[in-house]
Amino acid sequence: MTSSRIPGFYNMTVKERRALLREAFSLTDAETQNLSNADALTIGKADNMIENVIGTYQLPFGLGLNFLINGKEYVIPMAIEEASVVASASHVAKIVREAGGFQTESKERLMIGQIQVVGCPDFQEAKQQILHQKDTLMAAADNAYPSIVHRGGGVKDLDVRILNEEDASSYSKMLVMHIYVDTCDAMGANMINTMVESIAPIVEEITKGKVYLRILSNYADRSLATAKCMIPPHLLKTGSFAGEEVRDGVIHAYEFAASDPYRAVTHNKGVMNGIDPVVIATGNDWRAVEAGAHAYAARNGQYGSMTKWSKDEEGNLVGEIELPMSIGTVGGATRVHPLAGFSLSIMHIESAEELAQVIVAVGLAQNLGALKALATDGIQKGHMALHSRSVAIAGGATGEMIDVIAKQLVEQQEIRVGKAKELVEQYKK
Ligand code: MEV
Repeated sequence: MTSSRIPGFYNMTVKERRALLREAFSLTDAETQNLSNADALTIGKADNMIENVIGTYQLPFGLGLNFLINGKEYVIPMAIEEASVVASASHVAKIVREAGGFQTESKERLMIGQIQVVGCPDFQEAKQQILHQKDTLMAAADNAYPSIVHRGGGVKDLDVRILNEEDASSYSKMLVMHIYVDTCDAMGANMINTMVESIAPIVEEITKGKVYLRILSNYADRSLATAKCMIPPHLLKTGSFAGEEVRDGVIHAYEFAASDPYRAVTHNKGVMNGIDPVVIATGNDWRAVEAGAHAYAARNGQYGSMTKWSKDEEGNLVGEIELPMSIGTVGGATRVHPLAGFSLSIMHIESAEELAQVIVAVGLAQNLGALKALATDGIQKGHMALHSRSVAIAGGATGEMIDVIAKQLVEQQEIRVGKAKELVEQYKK
C-alpha cells in the first residue's frame, strides 16, 4: 500500500502532483485523463442525473494526506471550496499517525425504512398484529428487492411504535413501523423505498388503518461509525504553546460545545468541514449525512458536540466521534460520476462500512485542527498564511517566488494583490 505521507506535495505544481499520483497509485490513462479533464462529468451524464441541466458545477478537488486508519494508509479525496480545510486535516493526520493513527469501527450497518399508518380502529391491536406477522412482512419486503438478499443483505428486523397515543386528534395519533435493512454496500434509499412502498398494502390490511408515508429515514442510528485517537501532549506542542496547554485548550473547547448549542453548531460545522468533502468526492448524498449527523448530535435532548475530547490517566488527549453514516460505495452517483469512482479507488475502499469509518476519522481530524488553532493562535493566522499564497499568485508570483512573496506579505501585514505586485517587481530585480 502506498504511504499517505507525501512530503512536499503541498509545494508541487498541479502537474507534478498528478504525475506523482499516477506513478504511486498506478492510475490508468482514463483515470489520469479524468483528473485533468475539467469536463470529467460529461454534459451527457449530467443531463441523465438531474433535470433541466445547463452545465456542470465544479469544486476544487484535493487530497488529505498522512491518514493512518486501523493501520492502513489512506490518501483522502476532498471536494471543497474552503481554504485551510485540506491543509488542516493533513496536519492533524500527521500528528495522529505519529501517535499510532486512528482506530475506527462500525457495530452494524442497517438502514431504516418507515411506514406511517393512521386511523387504526384499535392502535394497540394493530401493533400486536404487526408484531405477530413480523416474519411475513419481512419476507414480503425481501421479495420486493430479491437482489439484495442474493448479495447477503435484506431485511433483518422490524419494529413498531404508536405515537401520540393519548391525543384525541386523528392527525397526530399514528402507528409507525420500521424495517431495518442490511443494504450491503449501497446507501440503499431506492431499495428501502421500493420495499416500504411494496408492503404498505399488507400493512393496511393488517392494521385496518391507512398508510400515508413510506420512506427511508435519514436518521441512520443503526449505521453508526466511530473513530478514536489518542495523542501524547508532546505531539501537540505548537509555537509558544506547550503540548499540555494545547491539550487542555482542546478539552475546554469541547466542553464549551458540549454545553452550548451556539458553540456546538460552529464546532460541528468544523467536523462537517472534513466529512462533507469526502462524502461529495465519493458521490454520496451529503444532505442525508448532514441531516443524520446533526440529529444524532441532539439525541440527548440538547444539541451538543459531535466529538468528545478528554484526557486519559497518562495525560494523553483522547478524541472520539460517533455518527450515523448513510453512505454507499455502489449505486447512485458513486459509479456515475467519474471522479467518485476515482476517489473510491485511490482510497482502496473495499466496503461502505470502511468508507463510513474513514469519513468519521476525517471529521475527527478536522475538528481537532480547528480546536487546536482556536485554543492557541486563533484561526486567522493559518487562514492568512494560506490566503497570502493566493494573493502572491494573483500578484504574479510563480514557482519558488510564491512562498517568498507570501511570507513577505504576512510579515509586512499587508496581504493585498497590489502589495504582492510590488514585491514581485522587487524580487525580479
Ligand atoms: C470554519 O469553517 C470552521 C470553524 O469555525 C470550526 C470551529 O469553530 O470549531 C473554525
